[in-house]
Amino acid sequence: MVSVKDVYEIGEIPPLGTIPRQMYAQVIRRERFGEPAKAFQPEKVNVPTNLKPDEALVFVMAAGINYNNVWASLGVPVDVIKVHEREGDPSGFHIGGSDASGIVYAVGDEVTNVRIGDRVVVHCGWWDREDPYIKAGGDPMIAPSARIWGYETNWGSFAQFAKVQAHQCLPKAPQLTWEAAAAPTLVGSTAYRMLHGWPPNTVKDGDVVLVWGGSGGLGSMAIQIAREAGAVPVAVVSSESKFEFCQNLGAKGCINRKKFDHWGMPPHWDDTEAFGRWAEGARAFGKAIWDVLGERRNPAIVLEHPGEDTIPTSIFVCDNGGMVVICAGTTGFSAVVDLRYLWMRQKRFQGSHFANDDNAAAFNQLVVDGKIDPCLSRVFAFEEISVAHQLMHENKHPEGNMVALVSAPREGLTDLP
Ligand SMILES: NC(=O)c1ccc[n+]([C@@H]2O[C@H](COP(=O)([O-])OP(=O)(O)OC[C@H]3O[C@@H](n4cnc5c(N)ncnc54)[C@H](OP(=O)(O)O)[C@@H]3O)[C@@H](O)[C@H]2O)c1
Repeated sequence: MVSVKDVYEIGEIPPLGTIPRQMYAQVIRRERFGEPAKAFQPEKVNVPTNLKPDEALVFVMAAGINYNNVWASLGVPVDVIKVHEREGDPSGFHIGGSDASGIVYAVGDEVTNVRIGDRVVVHCGWWDREDPYIKAGGDPMIAPSARIWGYETNWGSFAQFAKVQAHQCLPKAPQLTWEAAAAPTLVGSTAYRMLHGWPPNTVKDGDVVLVWGGSGGLGSMAIQIAREAGAVPVAVVSSESKFEFCQNLGAKGCINRKKFDHWGMPPHWDDTEAFGRWAEGARAFGKAIWDVLGERRNPAIVLEHPGEDTIPTSIFVCDNGGMVVICAGTTGFSAVVDLRYLWMRQKRFQGSHFANDDNAAAFNQLVVDGKIDPCLSRVFAFEEISVAHQLMHENKHPEGNMVALVSAPREGLTDLP
Protein backbone atom coordinates (compact mmCIF):
# COMPACT_ATOMS: atom_id res chain seq x y z
CA MET A 1 0.00 0.00 0.00
CA VAL A 2 1.27 3.50 -0.84
CA SER A 3 1.79 5.55 2.29
CA VAL A 4 0.90 9.23 2.14
CA LYS A 5 2.47 11.75 4.45
CA ASP A 6 0.37 14.40 6.09
CA VAL A 7 2.44 17.08 4.36
CA TYR A 8 5.43 17.01 2.02
CA GLU A 9 8.34 19.40 2.19
CA ILE A 10 8.85 21.79 -0.75
CA GLY A 11 10.69 19.86 -3.48
CA GLU A 12 9.40 16.45 -2.30
CA ILE A 13 7.10 14.62 -4.69
CA PRO A 14 4.19 12.56 -3.36
CA PRO A 15 3.40 9.27 -5.17
CA LEU A 16 1.35 10.03 -8.30
CA GLY A 17 -2.32 10.47 -7.56
CA THR A 18 -1.95 10.57 -3.77
CA ILE A 19 -3.02 13.69 -1.95
CA PRO A 20 -1.62 14.73 1.43
CA ARG A 21 -3.93 16.42 3.93
CA GLN A 22 -1.90 19.62 4.05
CA MET A 23 0.38 21.64 1.78
CA TYR A 24 2.67 24.66 1.84
CA ALA A 25 1.38 27.79 0.16
CA GLN A 26 2.41 31.43 -0.15
CA VAL A 27 -0.59 33.11 1.40
CA ILE A 28 -1.87 36.70 1.34
CA ARG A 29 -4.11 37.80 4.20
CA ARG A 30 -6.01 41.06 4.50
CA GLU A 31 -4.04 42.25 7.53
CA ARG A 32 -0.87 41.99 5.41
CA PHE A 33 -2.14 43.96 2.38
CA GLY A 34 0.62 46.28 1.18
CA GLU A 35 4.09 45.85 -0.28
CA PRO A 36 4.42 42.37 -1.86
CA ALA A 37 7.61 41.76 0.16
CA LYS A 38 5.46 41.51 3.29
CA ALA A 39 2.06 40.53 1.94
CA PHE A 40 3.10 36.98 0.96
CA GLN A 41 3.97 34.59 3.80
CA PRO A 42 4.45 30.82 3.63
CA GLU A 43 1.81 28.88 5.56
CA LYS A 44 0.64 25.31 5.92
CA VAL A 45 -3.00 24.95 4.80
CA ASN A 46 -5.35 22.10 3.97
CA VAL A 47 -5.21 20.80 0.38
CA PRO A 48 -8.46 21.74 -1.41
CA THR A 49 -9.76 18.23 -2.12
CA ASN A 50 -13.41 19.22 -2.57
CA LEU A 51 -13.31 19.02 -6.38
CA LYS A 52 -16.39 19.86 -8.42
CA PRO A 53 -17.15 17.46 -11.32
CA ASP A 54 -15.32 19.70 -13.83
CA GLU A 55 -12.28 20.45 -11.65
CA ALA A 56 -8.77 19.01 -11.32
CA LEU A 57 -6.03 19.15 -8.73
CA VAL A 58 -2.63 19.95 -10.21
CA PHE A 59 0.62 19.23 -8.39
CA VAL A 60 2.54 22.42 -9.13
CA MET A 61 6.13 22.03 -10.33
CA ALA A 62 6.70 25.71 -11.13
CA ALA A 63 4.60 28.87 -10.96
CA GLY A 64 4.81 31.95 -13.18
CA ILE A 65 4.95 35.41 -11.61
CA ASN A 66 2.49 37.95 -12.98
CA TYR A 67 1.52 41.51 -12.26
CA ASN A 68 -1.94 40.53 -11.02
CA ASN A 69 -0.64 39.27 -7.68
CA VAL A 70 1.19 42.56 -7.18
CA TRP A 71 -2.33 44.02 -7.23
CA ALA A 72 -3.56 41.20 -4.94
CA SER A 73 -0.81 42.03 -2.41
CA LEU A 74 -1.67 45.71 -2.42
CA GLY A 75 -5.37 45.02 -1.98
CA VAL A 76 -6.20 47.45 -4.82
CA PRO A 77 -8.04 48.02 -7.10
CA VAL A 78 -9.93 45.08 -5.58
CA ASP A 79 -9.68 43.26 -2.29
CA VAL A 80 -9.39 39.73 -3.65
CA ILE A 81 -10.21 38.14 -0.31
CA LYS A 82 -13.52 39.99 -0.31
CA VAL A 83 -14.09 38.64 -3.83
CA HIS A 84 -13.47 35.07 -2.60
CA GLU A 85 -15.83 35.64 0.35
CA ARG A 86 -18.55 36.88 -2.01
CA GLU A 87 -18.16 33.66 -3.99
CA GLY A 88 -18.75 31.61 -0.84
CA ASP A 89 -15.09 30.84 -0.01
CA PRO A 90 -14.75 31.01 3.79
CA SER A 91 -10.92 30.48 3.89
CA GLY A 92 -10.17 34.16 4.67
CA PHE A 93 -6.96 34.10 2.61
CA HIS A 94 -5.73 34.31 -0.95
CA ILE A 95 -3.42 31.83 -2.63
CA GLY A 96 -2.47 33.55 -5.85
CA GLY A 97 -0.60 32.35 -8.89
CA SER A 98 -2.09 32.40 -12.39
CA ASP A 99 0.51 30.38 -14.30
CA ALA A 100 1.61 26.84 -13.54
CA SER A 101 3.35 23.85 -14.95
CA GLY A 102 2.65 20.60 -13.17
CA ILE A 103 1.12 17.16 -13.07
CA VAL A 104 -2.56 16.25 -12.74
CA TYR A 105 -3.05 14.42 -9.40
CA ALA A 106 -6.84 14.22 -9.20
CA VAL A 107 -9.83 14.91 -11.43
CA GLY A 108 -13.54 15.49 -10.87
CA ASP A 109 -16.16 12.95 -12.01
CA GLU A 110 -16.94 14.61 -15.35
CA VAL A 111 -13.42 15.49 -16.50
CA THR A 112 -12.51 13.98 -19.87
CA ASN A 113 -9.76 16.22 -21.29
CA VAL A 114 -7.01 15.28 -18.79
CA ARG A 115 -6.06 12.26 -16.72
CA ILE A 116 -4.02 11.69 -13.57
CA GLY A 117 -0.36 11.84 -14.57
CA ASP A 118 -0.74 14.30 -17.47
CA ARG A 119 2.01 16.92 -17.68
CA VAL A 120 0.24 20.23 -18.15
CA VAL A 121 0.41 23.97 -18.11
CA VAL A 122 -2.56 25.85 -16.73
CA HIS A 123 -4.21 28.87 -18.32
CA CYS A 124 -5.98 31.24 -15.99
CA GLY A 125 -9.39 31.60 -17.67
CA TRP A 126 -12.04 30.45 -15.20
CA TRP A 127 -15.83 30.54 -15.72
CA ASP A 128 -19.04 28.78 -14.78
CA ARG A 129 -19.88 26.33 -17.55
CA GLU A 130 -23.57 26.71 -16.59
CA ASP A 131 -23.41 30.48 -17.20
CA PRO A 132 -26.36 31.28 -19.52
CA TYR A 133 -24.14 33.58 -21.60
CA ILE A 134 -21.78 30.69 -22.33
CA LYS A 135 -24.59 28.20 -22.86
CA ALA A 136 -26.00 30.58 -25.48
CA GLY A 137 -22.67 30.42 -27.35
CA GLY A 138 -21.06 33.59 -25.97
CA ASP A 139 -17.30 33.98 -25.51
CA PRO A 140 -16.63 32.65 -21.98
CA MET A 141 -14.17 35.47 -21.23
CA ILE A 142 -16.98 37.99 -21.72
CA ALA A 143 -19.44 35.99 -19.61
CA PRO A 144 -20.52 37.46 -16.27
CA SER A 145 -19.00 34.45 -14.48
CA ALA A 146 -15.51 34.87 -16.04
CA ARG A 147 -12.71 35.17 -13.47
CA ILE A 148 -8.91 35.09 -13.49
CA TRP A 149 -7.82 31.95 -11.68
CA GLY A 150 -5.23 32.64 -8.99
CA TYR A 151 -6.29 36.26 -8.75
CA GLU A 152 -10.08 36.55 -8.59
CA THR A 153 -10.29 32.92 -7.53
CA ASN A 154 -8.39 31.22 -4.72
CA TRP A 155 -6.13 28.14 -4.88
CA GLY A 156 -3.66 29.39 -7.48
CA SER A 157 -0.20 28.08 -8.26
CA PHE A 158 1.78 29.53 -5.33
CA ALA A 159 1.17 26.27 -3.46
CA GLN A 160 2.05 22.62 -3.82
CA PHE A 161 -1.45 21.85 -5.13
CA ALA A 162 -3.65 24.10 -7.24
CA LYS A 163 -7.36 23.68 -7.82
CA VAL A 164 -8.34 24.40 -11.44
CA GLN A 165 -11.14 23.80 -13.89
CA ALA A 166 -9.97 20.96 -16.13
CA HIS A 167 -10.48 23.01 -19.32
CA GLN A 168 -7.66 25.29 -18.09
CA CYS A 169 -5.14 22.47 -18.56
CA LEU A 170 -3.14 22.38 -21.78
CA PRO A 171 -0.35 20.00 -22.79
CA LYS A 172 3.05 21.04 -21.46
CA ALA A 173 5.63 21.49 -24.24
CA PRO A 174 7.77 18.39 -23.61
CA GLN A 175 11.02 20.12 -24.61
CA LEU A 176 10.62 22.85 -21.98
CA THR A 177 11.80 22.69 -18.39
CA TRP A 178 9.13 23.04 -15.72
CA GLU A 179 10.26 26.62 -15.07
CA ALA A 180 10.26 27.66 -18.74
CA ALA A 181 6.86 26.03 -19.26
CA ALA A 182 5.37 28.00 -16.36
CA ALA A 183 6.53 31.34 -17.76
CA PRO A 184 4.52 32.40 -20.81
CA THR A 185 0.88 31.19 -20.73
CA LEU A 186 -0.85 34.13 -19.03
CA VAL A 187 0.93 36.91 -20.88
CA GLY A 188 1.16 34.96 -24.14
CA SER A 189 -2.51 33.99 -24.28
CA THR A 190 -3.49 37.56 -23.41
CA ALA A 191 -1.30 38.96 -26.17
CA TYR A 192 -2.62 36.31 -28.57
CA ARG A 193 -6.23 37.40 -27.99
CA MET A 194 -5.26 41.06 -28.31
CA LEU A 195 -3.62 40.45 -31.67
CA HIS A 196 -5.82 37.69 -33.12
CA GLY A 197 -9.09 37.93 -31.21
CA TRP A 198 -10.82 41.07 -32.47
CA PRO A 199 -11.75 40.72 -36.14
CA PRO A 200 -11.50 42.44 -38.53
CA ASN A 201 -8.57 44.09 -36.69
CA THR A 202 -6.54 40.90 -36.45
CA VAL A 203 -2.80 40.96 -37.05
CA LYS A 204 -1.90 40.39 -40.69
CA ASP A 205 1.18 39.89 -42.79
CA GLY A 206 3.01 43.20 -43.14
CA ASP A 207 1.02 45.07 -40.46
CA VAL A 208 2.92 47.47 -38.26
CA VAL A 209 2.24 46.59 -34.59
CA LEU A 210 3.28 49.00 -31.84
CA VAL A 211 4.09 47.12 -28.61
CA TRP A 212 4.33 49.06 -25.34
CA GLY A 213 6.68 47.56 -22.75
CA GLY A 214 8.36 45.41 -25.41
CA SER A 215 10.72 43.80 -22.91
CA GLY A 216 7.98 43.02 -20.39
CA GLY A 217 5.85 39.92 -20.04
CA LEU A 218 3.09 40.90 -22.45
CA GLY A 219 5.42 42.80 -24.75
CA SER A 220 7.93 39.97 -25.22
CA MET A 221 5.09 37.62 -26.20
CA ALA A 222 3.35 40.20 -28.41
CA ILE A 223 6.52 40.82 -30.42
CA GLN A 224 6.87 37.11 -31.13
CA ILE A 225 3.18 36.51 -31.94
CA ALA A 226 3.22 39.48 -34.34
CA ARG A 227 6.45 38.18 -35.91
CA GLU A 228 4.89 34.73 -36.40
CA ALA A 229 1.97 36.40 -38.25
CA GLY A 230 4.43 38.13 -40.58
CA ALA A 231 3.77 41.53 -39.03
CA VAL A 232 6.33 44.23 -38.26
CA PRO A 233 6.57 44.82 -34.48
CA VAL A 234 7.94 48.11 -33.16
CA ALA A 235 8.71 48.03 -29.42
CA VAL A 236 8.61 50.86 -26.88
CA VAL A 237 10.92 50.57 -23.87
CA SER A 238 12.43 52.86 -21.24
CA SER A 239 16.11 52.25 -21.91
CA GLU A 240 18.38 51.55 -24.84
CA SER A 241 19.75 48.58 -22.90
CA LYS A 242 16.46 46.79 -23.71
CA PHE A 243 16.67 47.30 -27.49
CA GLU A 244 18.69 44.19 -28.25
CA PHE A 245 16.36 41.94 -26.24
CA CYS A 246 13.33 43.15 -28.24
CA GLN A 247 15.11 43.01 -31.58
CA ASN A 248 16.26 39.43 -30.93
CA LEU A 249 12.59 38.50 -30.46
CA GLY A 250 11.68 40.02 -33.81
CA ALA A 251 11.10 43.74 -33.25
CA LYS A 252 12.03 45.75 -36.33
CA GLY A 253 13.32 48.42 -33.97
CA CYS A 254 12.70 50.14 -30.65
CA ILE A 255 11.78 53.55 -29.28
CA ASN A 256 13.07 54.85 -25.96
CA ARG A 257 10.04 56.45 -24.29
CA LYS A 258 12.31 58.42 -21.96
CA LYS A 259 13.18 60.67 -24.91
CA PHE A 260 9.64 62.12 -24.80
CA ASP A 261 7.86 64.04 -22.09
CA HIS A 262 4.28 64.48 -23.27
CA TRP A 263 2.95 61.51 -21.25
CA GLY A 264 -0.18 61.54 -19.13
CA MET A 265 -3.43 63.39 -19.66
CA PRO A 266 -3.15 65.97 -22.44
CA PRO A 267 -4.21 69.56 -21.76
CA HIS A 268 -7.82 70.41 -22.57
CA TRP A 269 -8.32 70.82 -26.32
CA ASP A 270 -9.53 74.40 -25.99
CA ASP A 271 -6.22 75.46 -24.42
CA THR A 272 -4.80 75.72 -27.92
CA GLU A 273 -1.27 76.59 -26.95
CA ALA A 274 -0.78 73.86 -24.32
CA PHE A 275 -2.58 71.30 -26.47
CA GLY A 276 -0.35 72.27 -29.40
CA ARG A 277 2.74 71.52 -27.32
CA TRP A 278 1.29 68.12 -26.37
CA ALA A 279 0.50 67.37 -30.03
CA GLU A 280 4.07 68.22 -30.95
CA GLY A 281 5.27 65.49 -28.55
CA ALA A 282 2.78 62.98 -29.92
CA ARG A 283 3.81 63.82 -33.52
CA ALA A 284 7.48 63.39 -32.63
CA PHE A 285 6.68 59.99 -31.16
CA GLY A 286 4.85 59.07 -34.39
CA LYS A 287 7.88 60.16 -36.37
CA ALA A 288 10.06 57.90 -34.22
CA ILE A 289 7.90 54.98 -35.42
CA TRP A 290 8.47 56.03 -39.04
CA ASP A 291 12.21 56.31 -38.37
CA VAL A 292 12.28 52.71 -37.12
CA LEU A 293 10.33 51.55 -40.17
CA GLY A 294 12.20 53.68 -42.71
CA GLU A 295 8.85 54.68 -44.18
CA ARG A 296 5.74 56.67 -43.23
CA ARG A 297 3.45 53.90 -42.03
CA ASN A 298 1.31 53.89 -38.89
CA PRO A 299 0.52 50.94 -36.63
CA ALA A 300 -2.51 48.88 -37.65
CA ILE A 301 -2.59 47.62 -34.06
CA VAL A 302 -1.30 49.29 -30.90
CA LEU A 303 -0.93 46.85 -28.01
CA GLU A 304 -1.69 48.91 -24.90
CA HIS A 305 -1.39 48.25 -21.17
CA PRO A 306 0.28 51.32 -19.56
CA GLY A 307 -3.06 53.14 -19.93
CA GLU A 308 -3.34 56.68 -18.56
CA ASP A 309 0.19 57.77 -19.51
CA THR A 310 0.11 56.50 -23.07
CA ILE A 311 -3.45 56.11 -24.38
CA PRO A 312 -3.69 59.61 -25.93
CA THR A 313 -0.48 58.93 -27.87
CA SER A 314 -1.56 55.42 -28.84
CA ILE A 315 -4.82 56.68 -30.30
CA PHE A 316 -3.02 59.55 -32.04
CA VAL A 317 -0.43 57.32 -33.80
CA CYS A 318 -2.75 54.41 -34.65
CA ASP A 319 -3.49 54.09 -38.37
CA ASN A 320 -6.85 55.05 -39.91
CA GLY A 321 -9.22 52.13 -39.32
CA GLY A 322 -6.66 50.60 -36.95
CA MET A 323 -7.15 49.38 -33.40
CA VAL A 324 -5.75 50.30 -30.03
CA VAL A 325 -6.31 47.19 -27.93
CA ILE A 326 -5.86 47.47 -24.16
CA CYS A 327 -5.73 44.95 -21.33
CA ALA A 328 -4.56 47.06 -18.35
CA GLY A 329 -4.03 50.50 -16.94
CA THR A 330 -0.74 50.08 -15.12
CA THR A 331 -0.09 53.84 -14.91
CA GLY A 332 -3.69 54.80 -14.12
CA PHE A 333 -7.25 54.41 -15.26
CA SER A 334 -8.29 57.95 -16.22
CA ALA A 335 -7.21 58.02 -19.83
CA VAL A 336 -8.27 60.85 -22.10
CA VAL A 337 -9.47 60.06 -25.59
CA ASP A 338 -9.41 62.86 -28.16
CA LEU A 339 -12.60 61.87 -29.91
CA ARG A 340 -11.67 63.73 -33.08
CA TYR A 341 -9.00 61.16 -33.90
CA LEU A 342 -11.26 58.29 -32.95
CA TRP A 343 -14.21 59.10 -35.18
CA MET A 344 -12.68 61.07 -38.04
CA ARG A 345 -10.04 58.42 -38.65
CA GLN A 346 -12.44 55.61 -37.68
CA LYS A 347 -10.10 54.02 -35.20
CA ARG A 348 -11.15 51.33 -32.76
CA PHE A 349 -10.45 51.35 -29.02
CA GLN A 350 -10.92 47.79 -27.84
CA GLY A 351 -10.74 46.30 -24.36
CA SER A 352 -9.35 42.79 -24.09
CA HIS A 353 -9.01 40.52 -21.08
CA PHE A 354 -6.98 37.33 -20.86
CA ALA A 355 -8.14 34.62 -23.29
CA ASN A 356 -10.76 31.97 -23.98
CA ASP A 357 -9.86 28.26 -24.38
CA ASP A 358 -9.32 28.67 -28.14
CA ASN A 359 -6.99 31.68 -27.75
CA ALA A 360 -4.98 29.92 -25.02
CA ALA A 361 -4.76 26.65 -27.00
CA ALA A 362 -3.61 28.48 -30.15
CA PHE A 363 -0.90 30.26 -28.19
CA ASN A 364 0.13 27.04 -26.43
CA GLN A 365 0.46 25.33 -29.81
CA LEU A 366 3.00 27.98 -30.85
CA VAL A 367 4.91 27.17 -27.65
CA VAL A 368 4.70 23.39 -28.19
CA ASP A 369 5.90 23.91 -31.79
CA GLY A 370 8.96 25.75 -30.45
CA LYS A 371 7.98 29.02 -32.14
CA ILE A 372 7.80 31.07 -28.95
CA ASP A 373 10.67 31.69 -26.59
CA PRO A 374 9.03 31.74 -23.11
CA CYS A 375 11.52 34.50 -22.21
CA LEU A 376 12.25 33.01 -18.82
CA SER A 377 14.19 35.72 -17.05
CA ARG A 378 14.92 34.67 -13.49
CA VAL A 379 14.01 31.62 -11.44
CA PHE A 380 13.15 32.11 -7.79
CA ALA A 381 12.76 29.62 -4.97
CA PHE A 382 9.30 29.04 -3.49
CA GLU A 383 10.35 31.10 -0.46
CA GLU A 384 11.18 34.08 -2.72
CA ILE A 385 7.76 34.52 -4.36
CA SER A 386 7.36 37.76 -2.36
CA VAL A 387 10.74 39.04 -3.60
CA ALA A 388 9.82 38.46 -7.24
CA HIS A 389 6.56 40.39 -6.83
CA GLN A 390 8.32 43.22 -5.02
CA LEU A 391 10.75 43.59 -7.93
CA MET A 392 7.84 43.71 -10.34
CA HIS A 393 6.05 46.27 -8.19
CA GLU A 394 9.13 48.50 -8.38
CA ASN A 395 9.60 47.87 -12.15
CA LYS A 396 13.06 46.53 -11.26
CA HIS A 397 12.44 43.04 -12.57
CA PRO A 398 14.50 41.63 -15.44
CA GLU A 399 13.29 41.46 -19.05
CA GLY A 400 10.81 38.67 -19.82
CA ASN A 401 8.96 36.42 -17.38
CA MET A 402 9.91 35.39 -13.85
CA VAL A 403 9.08 31.99 -12.39
CA ALA A 404 9.30 30.34 -8.97
CA LEU A 405 10.06 26.68 -8.48
CA VAL A 406 7.42 25.06 -6.30
CA SER A 407 7.83 21.27 -6.35
CA ALA A 408 10.50 20.97 -9.05
CA PRO A 409 13.51 20.15 -6.86
CA ARG A 410 15.91 22.01 -9.13
CA GLU A 411 16.12 23.92 -12.41
CA GLY A 412 16.63 22.17 -15.73
CA LEU A 413 14.17 19.27 -15.39
CA THR A 414 11.70 18.63 -18.21
CA ASP A 415 9.96 15.83 -16.30
CA LEU A 416 10.11 14.12 -12.91
CA PRO A 417 13.66 13.69 -11.59
N1 LIG B 1 -6.08 41.84 -18.63
C1 LIG B 1 -5.23 40.85 -18.75
O1 LIG B 1 -5.64 39.76 -19.08
C2 LIG B 1 -3.79 41.05 -18.47
C3 LIG B 1 -2.88 40.03 -18.76
C4 LIG B 1 -1.51 40.24 -18.53
C5 LIG B 1 -1.09 41.43 -17.97
N2 LIG B 1 -2.02 42.38 -17.67
C6 LIG B 1 -1.58 43.67 -17.09
O2 LIG B 1 -0.74 44.31 -18.05
C7 LIG B 1 0.24 45.09 -17.40
C8 LIG B 1 1.62 44.69 -17.90
O3 LIG B 1 1.87 43.33 -17.56
P1 LIG B 1 3.27 42.65 -17.88
O4 LIG B 1 3.21 41.28 -17.34
O5 LIG B 1 3.64 42.85 -19.29
O6 LIG B 1 4.20 43.53 -16.92
P2 LIG B 1 5.75 43.84 -17.06
O7 LIG B 1 6.51 42.61 -17.39
O8 LIG B 1 6.07 44.62 -15.84
O9 LIG B 1 5.83 44.80 -18.32
C9 LIG B 1 5.21 46.05 -18.34
C10 LIG B 1 6.10 47.02 -19.06
O10 LIG B 1 5.44 48.27 -19.09
C11 LIG B 1 6.41 49.26 -19.25
N3 LIG B 1 6.03 50.48 -18.56
C12 LIG B 1 6.11 50.74 -17.24
N4 LIG B 1 5.72 52.00 -16.98
C13 LIG B 1 5.39 52.54 -18.18
C14 LIG B 1 4.94 53.83 -18.57
N5 LIG B 1 4.74 54.81 -17.69
N6 LIG B 1 4.72 54.03 -19.89
C15 LIG B 1 4.94 53.07 -20.80
N7 LIG B 1 5.37 51.84 -20.48
C16 LIG B 1 5.59 51.58 -19.19
C17 LIG B 1 7.73 48.73 -18.69
O11 LIG B 1 8.67 48.74 -19.73
P3 LIG B 1 9.62 49.99 -19.97
O12 LIG B 1 9.90 50.60 -18.61
O13 LIG B 1 10.83 49.39 -20.61
O14 LIG B 1 8.88 50.90 -20.89
C18 LIG B 1 7.41 47.28 -18.34
O15 LIG B 1 8.39 46.39 -18.83
C19 LIG B 1 0.03 44.88 -15.90
O16 LIG B 1 -0.77 45.91 -15.38
C20 LIG B 1 -0.73 43.56 -15.84
O17 LIG B 1 -1.51 43.43 -14.68
C21 LIG B 1 -3.35 42.24 -17.92
